[in-house]
Amino acid sequence: MKRVGILTSGGDCQGLNATIRAVAKTLYNQLGNDVEIIGIIDGYRGLIYGETRKMKPENFSGILTMGGTILGTSRQPFKLMRVVDENSVDKVEAMKKNYKKLGLDCLVVLGGNGTQKTANLLREEGLNVVSLPKTIDNDLWGTDKTFGFQSAVDIATNVIDCIHSTATSHGRVFIIEVMGHKVGWLTLYAGIAGGADIILIPEIPYDINSVVKTIKSRTAGGKNFSILAVAEGAISKEIAALPKKQRKAAVAEMKYPSISYQIAHDIEEATGQETRVTVPGHFQRGGSPDAYDRVISTRFGVKAAELIINKDYGKMVALVNNKVVAVPLKDIAGKLKSVPKDSEVVETARKMGISFGE
Ligand code: F6P
Repeated sequence: MKRVGILTSGGDCQGLNATIRAVAKTLYNQLGNDVEIIGIIDGYRGLIYGETRKMKPENFSGILTMGGTILGTSRQPFKLMRVVDENSVDKVEAMKKNYKKLGLDCLVVLGGNGTQKTANLLREEGLNVVSLPKTIDNDLWGTDKTFGFQSAVDIATNVIDCIHSTATSHGRVFIIEVMGHKVGWLTLYAGIAGGADIILIPEIPYDINSVVKTIKSRTAGGKNFSILAVAEGAISKEIAALPKKQRKAAVAEMKYPSISYQIAHDIEEATGQETRVTVPGHFQRGGSPDAYDRVISTRFGVKAAELIINKDYGKMVALVNNKVVAVPLKDIAGKLKSVPKDSEVVETARKMGISFGE
């Protein structure tokens, strides 16, 4: 009998349930009654504090299209993993103890960067781990795509589409602030798909004068509106030039709730044109996975089940050159995949006349 623990950790996204379902259905199909799946509640928290649920095959039915995660999730920052909690619980030791107590043969984790780091830590501590790449940010090293990303691109694109009509009607400048944490994948893809005029991402620090110049030249050319897709982590050239510590302080000192409002203020002041900000926020992580994510989640989940059956542990399932593969956790954990400044997609946008505010 194989006992498999499964958890979802970090921010939720579309495709979590589709992936869980694919892992479970493949295991049941291949191993029949020879497998038991234990759901670990609210991510690593459930493993630390022993909150689990014995799953049955029917628990994995009807969840393909469901957003969120049937297992619940929580953020357990990696930097606090080695820090004992307020009740003196050593979290890593507690996870090892509960893994043994549950009689697990392996632990399956679905998560983003922090989750992969903890997965690798547990691997180093001797646990059998298989992980899957989840995040709307698409910032996981070792995989071309993460599940959740494409659905979030679709939502952010739809927001930009809707904003277009109101921007043209009112002759306004509109900023759509897109999630993505420290990277610009989501903004870049949604910006291109939504026909943004200016795309600002953390990897390419912007010069506000260049942004203003683009808007003014659009106005001079008869375009009464401009659309900016701005990553939540976008950063100006001035701030990017500061030493790392001062950079954080400069961002924290900003009197606006986020960078988009600062940019809107600067644009309005320099152009005199009405400027508005739209922040779709967590909307981008919600709802049903799109068809692409349903397929990639299924492919990822089936691969994870194969790794479990073959006892091929310590790996993250990944997509490389459109092939589903497994990459060693030790090679990818802790590495951020940002948008290369001169990648083909960025160049494509530049050639189309989309400004990056350089
Ligand atoms: O990592 C996914 C993400 O949605 C990021 O894009 C965003 O910066 C962050 O999570 C928001 O975190 P929270 O859900 O904790 O507000």
